[in-house]
Amino acid sequence: MAFNRISDQLLKRFTEIVGEENIFTDRDKLEKYAHDETEDLVFYPQVAASPVNAGQISELLKLCSENMIPVTPRGAGTGLSGGALAVHEGLLMSTEKLNKIIEIDERNFQATLEAGVITEEFMNAAAEKGLFYPVDPSSKGSCFIGGNIAHGSGGPRVVKYGTIREYVLNLEVVLPDGEIIWTGANTLKYASGYNLTQLMIGSEGTLGIVTKAVLKLIPMPTQNLVMLASFPTNEEACAAVSSIFMTGVTPSTLEFMERRGVEWVIEYDHFQFYLKPGIEAFLMIEVDGDDMDLLMIEAEKINRALEAHGCADVLLADTSAQKEALWRMRRTMPLSVKSNSIYKEEDTVVPRAELPRLIHGIKQIGLRFGFDSVCYGHAGDGNLHVNIIKGIMSDADWNTKLKEGIREIFELTVSLGGTISGEHGIGLVQREFMGIKYSEGHMNLMRGIKGVFDPKGILNPGKIF
Ligand code: LAC
Ligand code: ZN
Repeated sequence: MAFNRISDQLLKRFTEIVGEENIFTDRDKLEKYAHDETEDLVFYPQVAASPVNAGQISELLKLCSENMIPVTPRGAGTGLSGGALAVHEGLLMSTEKLNKIIEIDERNFQATLEAGVITEEFMNAAAEKGLFYPVDPSSKGSCFIGGNIAHGSGGPRVVKYGTIREYVLNLEVVLPDGEIIWTGANTLKYASGYNLTQLMIGSEGTLGIVTKAVLKLIPMPTQNLVMLASFPTNEEACAAVSSIFMTGVTPSTLEFMERRGVEWVIEYDHFQFYLKPGIEAFLMIEVDGDDMDLLMIEAEKINRALEAHGCADVLLADTSAQKEALWRMRRTMPLSVKSNSIYKEEDTVVPRAELPRLIHGIKQIGLRFGFDSVCYGHAGDGNLHVNIIKGIMSDADWNTKLKEGIREIFELTVSLGGTISGEHGIGLVQREFMGIKYSEGHMNLMRGIKGVFDPKGILNPGKIF
């Protein structure tokens, strides 16, 4: 694609649309838009805009479309695949000022909100009305609903409650040529032509810019229990996962953490926790509902499954303080790993009974290629975040050999019936691996869809394909 730079004249028109206070061109102002949470990647846009409504986004997109200006949509910038990076410079479109919760409709159990609302703020607003929005990625305190939609976000509760795909009823979207559409209806079912709502979810800002969402809410469970189970080996912890479900219990979260992840949280966050020798991995399991007696019965069933897999001990957290401490440990893990070493994160997902083979295979590949890894993730979904650690690996090996190792990890993942990202997306950094999962014909179908929405290819170029 032959993109143009933003001329002074065009910049003036952008400024007329959004006002001077919402246009940024100085390097120091652009800095915050130049990176997300993906490794240490930095790409400065030529100009950043923070429009305050869909109408302004529409006018900006119309101009960009006419003038062949690449546009990179951006939420909070917490992404892990480089989806919000302006790799072709151009205009960065921030949704940070679309931050209003428009309505929480208690009669219909649904809410309408703008794309730049922080996920946790929305969860709290729903909770105040006794309603539950369960999709809570680790970055819930800073990520935006729009970014969650762009990536089909998950987080720990997916195992019982599903991803954001289960909660989006309808989306307001600005298309690359400036047209504003609603993709569906504010209903629990939809049999009225192609489902553009689901197509937009996970499209990583390549088809349109989501400006509003209508989300489904559910009743708030009132009780929960959290258990931390220790295992002598990674494989046994992973093997316990599918056995837990086979007891008939569906935990509300089922997280896996390798010992080193916990060690690094202890170091990074001064987390108080005694790590017994001989323990290699942990499962953190939560059950929720409204009846504590029932939850205790479920915990007992889970316990029996854990024991059958050599679980060394189980810590039962029943006070809020204990539960919060364990969750904090888990949620701090990405930052702790990031702060400890140069690393590369992969987001493998397999059917959950294949987890023992996945983790065993990842460690074997690491041994062959000379890299170490720290894994944690949403074991109940078969979703393992593989953090490859540079450690003492030479720069030359890190820059060349590593890629082959990652390729082998993805080949293993796909051979086990899985795929190359469960929730972090393809963005910039995983696109070279798409061929492991998809045939050329399949890729062409996706390219065709992209072409229908965005014939000029101005929207988030350089991502997914
Ligand atoms: C987590 C993020 C990295 O699970 O997806 O903590
Ligand atoms: Zn995750």
